[in-house]
Amino acid sequence: MDKFVIRGGNPLLGTIRVSGAKNAALPAMAAALLTDEPVILENIPQVRDIETTRNLLAAMGAEVELGYARAHHRTTICCRTLAAPEASYELVKTMRASTLVLGPLVARCGTARVSLPGGCAIGARPIDLHIKGLEQLGATITQDHGYVEASARRLRGAEIVFDKITVTGTEDLLMAATLAEGETVMQNCAREPEVVDLADLLNKMGAHIEGAGTSTIRIRGVEKLHGAKHRIIPDRVEAATFIIAGALTAGDLNISGCDPQHLGALLQKLGEVGVKIKQTTDSIRVMGDSPCKAADIVTEEYPGFPTDMQAQYMALATQSDGTSVITENIFENRFMHAQEMVRMGANIKIEGRRAVVRGKTPLGSAAVLASDLRASASLVLAALVADGETIIDRVYHIDRGYENIEEKLRGVGAQIGRIGEILPKRAAAPSARA
Ligand code: EPU
Repeated sequence: MDKFVIRGGNPLLGTIRVSGAKNAALPAMAAALLTDEPVILENIPQVRDIETTRNLLAAMGAEVELGYARAHHRTTICCRTLAAPEASYELVKTMRASTLVLGPLVARCGTARVSLPGGCAIGARPIDLHIKGLEQLGATITQDHGYVEASARRLRGAEIVFDKITVTGTEDLLMAATLAEGETVMQNCAREPEVVDLADLLNKMGAHIEGAGTSTIRIRGVEKLHGAKHRIIPDRVEAATFIIAGALTAGDLNISGCDPQHLGALLQKLGEVGVKIKQTTDSIRVMGDSPCKAADIVTEEYPGFPTDMQAQYMALATQSDGTSVITENIFENRFMHAQEMVRMGANIKIEGRRAVVRGKTPLGSAAVLASDLRASASLVLAALVADGETIIDRVYHIDRGYENIEEKLRGVGAQIGRIGEILPKRAAAPSARA
């Protein structure tokens, strides 16, 4: 398993470019299942979860073509024939977002068989709301041997009220409803920019969707969707991670190719903390030359403070003066990074869904373990300001969602390297004479 070795202390200076959003690219790729014509997606990040989705679609019979050279962020997907509309446990267990194929498959093929994802490091993460919504759209659902099987001759429009706001649940049912007969009205929808991006793509494919980005989405179903070309939005979580890196390291960092409008809650909080920010329509400059003050955060659905930024904010809180209370409202177990930061010298107490961070404490070198994607990013951030060399194990988590993070950080002055697993030396074979 690869590890990062990071020597902290360098201020990050220069420009760092943001990649396409993983969490927008995943549903966009699943949307290609809805048509037999090619869907061309630009700005697809080259990360492990995208690779998993390509394998998932290819296993169903989709043709997935990758761009090369300057077009290496383009992916063309053509689902002319879908011989096997199913997602196996082998793939779903490595990426929960595989469940995004459930809605499109049943809408297009009339049948789908998708493994239940099981729990994960950050919480139980059930998909009951996807299932309930599909039932409301007229699908018959059975669950057996760890798989969900859905079938319907044709889905029919319905009134769906989500009991709880769910991002991929909104996306899954949004895709399904595009091919349903009649109108679907979904209430209490997720309002994330990734939902809006998916609706934009679906509308380009011939869907009739109104209201994406608000809590009520109306979809007028159509018989058929067609191919389209679409550019994925910039990754707001990657951008936010680099903003915090600039602030933490007392750097002067320009984050280009991002959309500051998607980062409202974070930028507002950083203003409170005392981080100097300048923004244009597609870039953010962060100047980390003033000391940071503690400020509390509460994670919420968009447009609130994102749970996907909670761990990275915690790294900043360890270096802010005073006490920051961090409340995690979305997932029940998303503080695994806290204990690792404590091993580096942070003062953090976990009380249920709240983490109380007392700063500022110097961070020192340690060997730490990454437990999920965003936790890994937070440990990289902490290591960038730690004294000495930090070794972060299990960085395969970060490869799922951050494109070339070490090259990007090295390009602005970080000392970060990757090492493969160092295997213990094998004992010498006994000699023939012994
Ligand atoms: N929930 C249910 N039932 C459901 C679905 C969700 O109870 O059927 C609960 C979850 O357990 C959780 C809450 O609702 O407590 C919100 O979960 P949501 O469904 O919104 O999460 P998700 O769609 O599985 C996406 C992102 C996550 C991000 C969350 C919250 C993708 C592919 N994943 O997950 O991203 O944390 O929304 O914003 O879009 C990441 O990128 O690191 C990541 C985990």
